[in-house]
Amino acid sequence: MCGIVGILGNQSVTSIIMEALRRLEYRGYDSAGIAVLNNGVLSRRRAAGKLDNLAKLLKMDPINGNLGIGHTRWATHGAPTENNAHPHMTDRVAVVHNGIIENHIALRKELTELGQEFKSETDSETIVQLVDYYLKQGHKHQEAAFMALKRLEGAYAIAMIFTSNDNLMIGARHGAPLVVGFGDNEMFLGSDSLAIAPLTTKVAYMADGIWTVIKREGAFFYDMEGKEVSCPIQKTALITGTIGKNGYRHYMEKELHEHPIVIGQTLRRFVNPATHQINLPYLPFKITALKRGIITACGSAYYAGYIGRYWLEEYARLPIDIDIASEMRYRDPPIEGEGMGLVISQSGETADTLAALRNLKKNNQKIISILNNEHSTIARESDVVLGTDAGVEIAVASTKAFTAQLTVLACLTLTIAKVKHKITAEHRDQCLSALLDLPSRVAEVLQLKEKIQEIAKFIANAQSVIYLGRGIMYPVAMEGALKLKEISYIHADAYAAGEMKHGPIALIDHTVPIISVIPSGFLFEKTLSNLQEAKARGGHIIVFTDQRGAESLSPIADKVIILPTVHSFVSPILYTVPVQMLAYEAAITKGTDVDQPRNLAKSVTVE
Ligand code: AGP
Repeated sequence: MCGIVGILGNQSVTSIIMEALRRLEYRGYDSAGIAVLNNGVLSRRRAAGKLDNLAKLLKMDPINGNLGIGHTRWATHGAPTENNAHPHMTDRVAVVHNGIIENHIALRKELTELGQEFKSETDSETIVQLVDYYLKQGHKHQEAAFMALKRLEGAYAIAMIFTSNDNLMIGARHGAPLVVGFGDNEMFLGSDSLAIAPLTTKVAYMADGIWTVIKREGAFFYDMEGKEVSCPIQKTALITGTIGKNGYRHYMEKELHEHPIVIGQTLRRFVNPATHQINLPYLPFKITALKRGIITACGSAYYAGYIGRYWLEEYARLPIDIDIASEMRYRDPPIEGEGMGLVISQSGETADTLAALRNLKKNNQKIISILNNEHSTIARESDVVLGTDAGVEIAVASTKAFTAQLTVLACLTLTIAKVKHKITAEHRDQCLSALLDLPSRVAEVLQLKEKIQEIAKFIANAQSVIYLGRGIMYPVAMEGALKLKEISYIHADAYAAGEMKHGPIALIDHTVPIISVIPSGFLFEKTLSNLQEAKARGGHIIVFTDQRGAESLSPIADKVIILPTVHSFVSPILYTVPVQMLAYEAAITKGTDVDQPRNLAKSVTVE
């Protein structure tokens, strides 16, 4: 939910921290701050709003030092004001925090009674006040930090620096990601490797419950008993410079246009186009003995899983239970024996999804995770990771990662279907050929921008929009509705088209656009009937269909967007692209902040 960075350098760190915060801004952007140590004095600058506001402040009123910490915030406790912005500090210590301190009320009360003076409404300030209190009691920096960490309950990734020690930075993580970077006589801390990618290729991904004492010479890692532990250093790719928009107006527009490349890259990772061999990593269970699978995820990743459920049940004849992770984490499903737990996440850090994974593991499920970040916490707790080759996804609204997840799910489906002898070689080949052909078909859809812009203008002033789909197109409708909501702030709901007559049809009148993803083929006629019912009640009908579908739909639809005709196996992937494009164009029309929509964050690492 927030981005944190720390640099123990041998040159002024202010501009380097700001650059790192730019790479982290997608994690949270309602306020930002930086604190640096110079000649025994801790200086701080904070600003509400976007990072640019902090940059302007620093231009007017610069601070410098060779040791510093920075933070971009997605507010959990306390309004997104300057006073609640991190770093929180006293004369002795400064802290930045990602997560939620669940016992902050009791700690605040105790510390206030002990004379500590709180200045913000945040839970995070309890950390700095606790350390400050122990320092005042005469404890050394490292000891005071450790004593404070042991009092904290909840989720945290922390970076901490001290007024009276210019060669010390403390990091700690419990339930929120934290990476240590190793430089040449300089050291780094970041919420993820992207933050410090231009600074080093040597990183250590801290596990939960570990804290670290960092000096310029290196880092020492300890568990919560104070016992020294090892934390392996890994090589990462050095991403130099900032990740740019490459001429697009927004990261989301750039990432929409990366759909074809990403689908192709992900396919190449698992499929030999010549032999049609699918080579997934070893799956930790006997596929032929598999009785059922359980899929769990959040948001768009959940809709990808929902599509996966249709595929796995139809093509691999594998019964699937699916639930959103915030529910799955608290369910006690009557699971018989070992099975497949399928966890899907772009960030690999979503708290609900991680908790649901742990619940499934507790129920003896083998965990396959489909992730875009293979160094994430979910990756570390999975039995096997199927990586999506989507590259860094900056826009809060997930686009290319979504179709990459679907591509992996399609490969997994065909693999299980083949091993369980549920699909003929011919049918499998047809599906695989359609997959391999998909990047070109998606590129064609991206050319429909002007037509989609027209629809965006048509719906931009609607109070509410209804999305309809049947069968495997129902979760595509759900994804379209979510995208519209989260970036254009227009209310939208998705329904299985057959469900309309059981209540939601009461919502329809001439002010309500109805958007349907409706390729010709199975269930087309059924959905057409539902659209006729909506039309009869004054609804404006907008359809995404193929050439054959358009012939039947044109008489009733107000707008028809014709997509390439593709094998039904890949329709969900293809039809995802125009509904995401529509959300983007609607947001442009409404002038909302496309890449950093209000109230949201890219990675929801708190419950
Ligand atoms: C997608 O556009 C949303 N930003 C959100 O629903 C997201 O998919 C969800 O929070 C899950 O994130 P994850 O894939 O990183 O776990």
